[in-house]
Amino acid sequence: MSKTATLTVNGKVYELPMIESTIGDTGIDISKLRSQTSFITLDPGFANTGSCRSSITYLDGEKGVLRYRGIPIKEVAEKATFVETAYLLIYGELPTKEQLSDFSHAFSRHANLHEDMKNFFLGYPNTGHPMAMLSAMICALSAYYPELLKPEPSDQEIDLMTIQLMSKIRTICACTYKKSIGEPFIYAREDYDYVANFLHMMFSTPTKEYKIQKPVVNALRTLLILHGDHEQNCSTSTVRLVGSSWANLFASISAGVCALWGPLHGGANQKVVEMLEEMHSTGADITKYIERAKDSNDPYRLMGFGHRVYKNYDPRARIIKSKCDDLFNTLGVHDPLLDIAVKLENAVLKDDYFKERKLYPNVDFYSGIIYKAIGIPANMFPVLFAIGRLPGWIAHWREMKASKETRIGRPRQVYTGEIERDFVPIEKRK
Ligand code: CMC
Repeated sequence: MSKTATLTVNGKVYELPMIESTIGDTGIDISKLRSQTSFITLDPGFANTGSCRSSITYLDGEKGVLRYRGIPIKEVAEKATFVETAYLLIYGELPTKEQLSDFSHAFSRHANLHEDMKNFFLGYPNTGHPMAMLSAMICALSAYYPELLKPEPSDQEIDLMTIQLMSKIRTICACTYKKSIGEPFIYAREDYDYVANFLHMMFSTPTKEYKIQKPVVNALRTLLILHGDHEQNCSTSTVRLVGSSWANLFASISAGVCALWGPLHGGANQKVVEMLEEMHSTGADITKYIERAKDSNDPYRLMGFGHRVYKNYDPRARIIKSKCDDLFNTLGVHDPLLDIAVKLENAVLKDDYFKERKLYPNVDFYSGIIYKAIGIPANMFPVLFAIGRLPGWIAHWREMKASKETRIGRPRQVYTGEIERDFVPIEKRK
């Protein structure tokens, strides 16, 4: 017998079906609540609301567990390539050799942008934030594939959009950087894999090839994998919500990029490094910053700490921190920001304010220090997050399209405004 929960409203009892998960939170199905009771639920920030059933990513924030399609993140980060991870997230299984080879070759075939798109970049100011260009260019891709823009595309058409997006996002991101420094765009090389190609398009010039270094490729690969998916976060929920109106995949992903840009989400990695730089320039007195973050009258927050779901050390942050040490040792570089970050983390972990609220370093705390060591400027950090998160967004959009439960996303509200009043002509207004 399926389980139910009971809800008593104004003395009347309602039975609500319970939706079992394979692991993790069980849902109470309130989809008929309003029609049966005339009441709705109120849950600002959706902290207690499940918006869908999903089989892509599982995470347990109390225990610090994260799994892609059931595989622990540590294993994926150690053993998979980014392209393999993308395949796993999107199609649900690790690819066979043949599937991986087909997937990778498709990326090579579709890496270049339509030459006309160069004009779009040229129209932006050099100081424009790369996320502004990225979201616009991803949406612009839809103009080049009008034949794919159907409310109900076929599986083959969705596969083609998937390849176009996954491959071209690297090119678009590298072009935003080249535009900002006034260098010519560099084309992808067929003999390079996904990550090496991105580095090549970022850092090669027409007269000098960028030297691909394995530790750098490996560090970047790990970071992209760790950002691959994180279930119903702000940007992924945005992609699903936009897609639920039957907006095309390019438009839905473009909206996801905009949601990711915010400093509380994927924009935090840029803000972390800016915060550490400020601490460095003011003599690394971290106490002052910690006190500010604890002051309830000051909106200041320590960037890179805290998470809606993790109430334990973010498992991605742990892996990134060890990658940071590996990369710095291998390259023989030293960044004073890493010393400040470690000092800040140690102080925060001992502080009662942060302990009581279970605020630990998140994925964005150490990632920027690695990007910086690779030579990527701070305003490109959220862009790197977007490249990593793209397979997750695509996987969720596809899952949403395939689900029979999907309806257009349309929350309700508890209205608290004026009930009804007369329109006052302008000359009589006070
Ligand atoms: N510094 C100081 N105080 C904090 C911080 C922080 N970084 N994060 C949360 N708090 C406090 C907050 O003031 C509140 O205190 P009180 O209970 O006294 O009002 C309490 O902790 C709970 O915070 P919240 O804002 O209700 O938590 P949330 O789940 O709504 O927000 C968060 C989660 C990630 C937006 C938030 O922790 C934050 O702003 N962190 C800094 C930005 C950041 O690093 N974002 C990247 C998140 S990881 C990448 C991703 O997946 O997006």
